[in-house]
Amino acid sequence: MNEIPVITIDGPAGSGKGTIAKLVAKKLGWHILDSGALYRLTAFAALKKGVSFEDESTLAILARNLDVIFDDGEILLENQKVTTDIRSEECGNAASKVAACGVVRDALLQRQHDFRQAPGLIADGRDMGTVVFTDAPIKIYLTASAEERAKRRLNQLKENGINASLPRLIQEIEERDDRDMNREEAPLKPADDAIVIDSSKMNIEQVVKKVMEAIDK
Ligand code: DC
Repeated sequence: MNEIPVITIDGPAGSGKGTIAKLVAKKLGWHILDSGALYRLTAFAALKKGVSFEDESTLAILARNLDVIFDDGEILLENQKVTTDIRSEECGNAASKVAACGVVRDALLQRQHDFRQAPGLIADGRDMGTVVFTDAPIKIYLTASAEERAKRRLNQLKENGINASLPRLIQEIEERDDRDMNREEAPLKPADDAIVIDSSKMNIEQVVKKVMEAIDK
């Protein structure tokens, strides 16, 4: 049994998992795993190399051999900074397609386990509590309405200088939810022992407070 503690934070696109994971990791001084970035990087590499999303075995090879460095908030793929590129809606939607492929998920499993380093890990994703770190003592499932999540995404994109339309974002978020929740491999759902937090009417501080209360208990 692995003694290093893990707190999993799963939930749909735009639920604020990434922000909450970063803040909680900072408070505790723990490491962080942004597992979505691994799927985004695989999709990004596939788009760049012209690999079809139907070609599962080549996608799995790409995923297994990702030459990636996570360096203090920056992400380097084959020594090129891709931190902002992989955050585009196009890459997020492509990641959701790539992530439906079981062999890709298997190829990324060990890489995710390797993030479990002392003193502890905050793991952010879709299947952190249900598949990757089933023994995590604290599992959070963070959600919010599709409209609220689309609004947050719109603001996030604006901050990064990317333009988008709200109705289109709502539609894309609903499509992504549908794909992530209804796929056969590791579908997005709360673990049986997860604490479910609906952040639709909560601000960031309130959500962090709720997570920290769960940890203190
Ligand atoms: O969290 P994100 O938006 O960066 O994730 C991008 C896509 O990757 C998401 O739509 C589904 C997939 N994903 C996954 O299937 N499993 C994870 N643990 C994390 C992300």
